[in-house]
Amino acid sequence: PTGLVVAVDGPGGSGKSTVSREIARRLGLRYLDTGAMYRAITQVALERRIDIEDPSAVAEVAERTVLTVGTDPDRPSIAVDGDNVDEQIRTRAVTNAVSAVAAVSAVRSRLVAQQREIIAESLAAGGIVVEGRDIGSVVAPDAPVKVFLTASTEVRALRRSRQLGEKGVDDVARTLAELDRRDALDSTRTADPLSVPDGAIVLDSSALSVPEVVDEVLRQSQHLL
Ligand code: C5P
Repeated sequence: PTGLVVAVDGPGGSGKSTVSREIARRLGLRYLDTGAMYRAITQVALERRIDIEDPSAVAEVAERTVLTVGTDPDRPSIAVDGDNVDEQIRTRAVTNAVSAVAAVSAVRSRLVAQQREIIAESLAAGGIVVEGRDIGSVVAPDAPVKVFLTASTEVRALRRSRQLGEKGVDDVARTLAELDRRDALDSTRTADPLSVPDGAIVLDSSALSVPEVVDEVLRQSQHLL
């Protein structure tokens, strides 16, 4: 079956999720948030009081956990062993622990395999927009459309802070520090670090609205659609 795969990578707060969902809606494609999968494994590990710095313990959690992922861009969802965890995976505790979990290569190979299955199943239905850190480089290196979205650290921290419903300057500063730490961990880990894949459309979204970013991606990939 032929279908389109759009790979969207970038750091936290770069606008990946909003942009990816909008591209999926406009092109009538499915949508996969791979970050939600790493978050779900992290949520389970925290709930079970597993030592997040113990790779084999964390790997075992990933092996025993069944993730069910909904790929409707209007209603993405994730469940752990049948229970929905959409809310639980967005807590600050999960956000601050997820990079350690995502650095474990056994966790990555398991999740990457499931991500590839979801992509394969979506091809018959037209295709899928997949967002994460290693989509264009590892999960779907043959994706015809690759996007790498960035934004200044300040803009990303402000966006994240707003998402969290924060108001104070101190909150933004703290969110910025946490974002910086997660960026550093995600970019320097040995297993599939965040990187700009070959052939990616690189866009800085700091001064662009969501429709502007989406229009630009669609314009630059028109010949492939
Ligand atoms: O995109 P989001 O902020 O939800 O991702 C959470 C974390 O999951 C990232 O900070 C990163 O550690 C990890 N991740 C990853 N590979 C992906 C997607 C997310 O390592 N493809």
